[in-house]
Amino acid sequence: MKRIAVLCSGGDAPGMNAAIRSVVRYGLVEGVEVIGVKRGYSGLLEGLFEPMQLSSVANLIQKGGTFLLTSRCKEFRKKEGRKKAAEVLRKEKVDGLVVLGGDGSFQGGHLLAEEHGISVAGVPCTIDNDVFGTDDTIGFDTAINTALDAIDRIRDSASSHERTFMVEVMGRSSPFIATHVGIGGGAETICTPEEGNLVNIEGMIETLQYSMKRGKGSSIIVIAEGARPGRSYEIAEELKKKGGIDAKVAILGHIQRGGSPTARDRWLASLSGVEAVRALLRGEKETMIATDQGRVTTKKLSICFDREKPFSQELLKIAHALSR
Ligand code: ADP
Ligand code: F6P
Repeated sequence: MKRIAVLCSGGDAPGMNAAIRSVVRYGLVEGVEVIGVKRGYSGLLEGLFEPMQLSSVANLIQKGGTFLLTSRCKEFRKKEGRKKAAEVLRKEKVDGLVVLGGDGSFQGGHLLAEEHGISVAGVPCTIDNDVFGTDDTIGFDTAINTALDAIDRIRDSASSHERTFMVEVMGRSSPFIATHVGIGGGAETICTPEEGNLVNIEGMIETLQYSMKRGKGSSIIVIAEGARPGRSYEIAEELKKKGGIDAKVAILGHIQRGGSPTARDRWLASLSGVEAVRALLRGEKETMIATDQGRVTTKKLSICFDREKPFSQELLKIAHALSR
């Protein structure tokens, strides 16, 4: 392994820069040339390559977003696209690729490895924390802290005015942000994405009325955006229609994807980047860097799209019990 490349793919996540820094610095220290690929798989197809030096990643560990840029690339989903990507990598004499992204990006990486023999190491980066096979993904901790900070601020105003607030957080198909933020923020109710249109409005009204009866002036409901960002407005309308409850809506949106990574995300990014380089140097063909009970470890890349990450309904029961 003489030359490796690193790219970001899919939605960005705070800590991606810290992970790139780690791959670049550790690779160079181990005597490997490191190439930064701009704009994800799209940039790979176009050959947007930048050789990295130690100084290329200076003053980056604390920055959100990704200086390499990221993208979603339709062409890479096709066999022809991946063939072209492999040809570009071969032409540039790149032997291994580190992919920073989620399970979609890893599925692409797996196919590239399987079809063309390129070694791929995946570093899980997504605020959704929805990658099966790893306890944590880079960006999740920062995102939930950002959302929690927003909820604390909203609660100040909600309690001053004795209001009910709906706070919509990200997670198109993943319940993890909503649940962690709901528990950490003491939400009265949490709506997960899989409820879709089947949100239990009557149950929500019952919970809110119970809170009001026992003297609670304000309430927070945390809603995962689900398939339709903005669905909180519809839920607020239903609350008004069926329970006569006025609720204000705050949609946090992409605020959760930005900002300086937390200490935990920087730590995870730094250790994961090193593990990714080590996996390539060991000659592993397809690796995912994972955390398992606090330890950074490696798994087979394809494990992440075998199954959906399990979610414990018990957490919702706990959230409900604690907010009473
Ligand atoms: P994430 O990696 O966060 O799950 P996406 O699902 O948006 O994000 O995937 C990012 C990119 O990874 C896609 O735009 C595509 O280029 C590639 N990708 C995703 N799924 C596949 C797949 N099944 N086959 C090949 N490439 C894929
Ligand atoms: O990064 C994950 C995520 O934020 C999901 O929660 C959300 O559904 C999706 O990305 C939105 O991404 P984009 O706005 O880039 O399409």
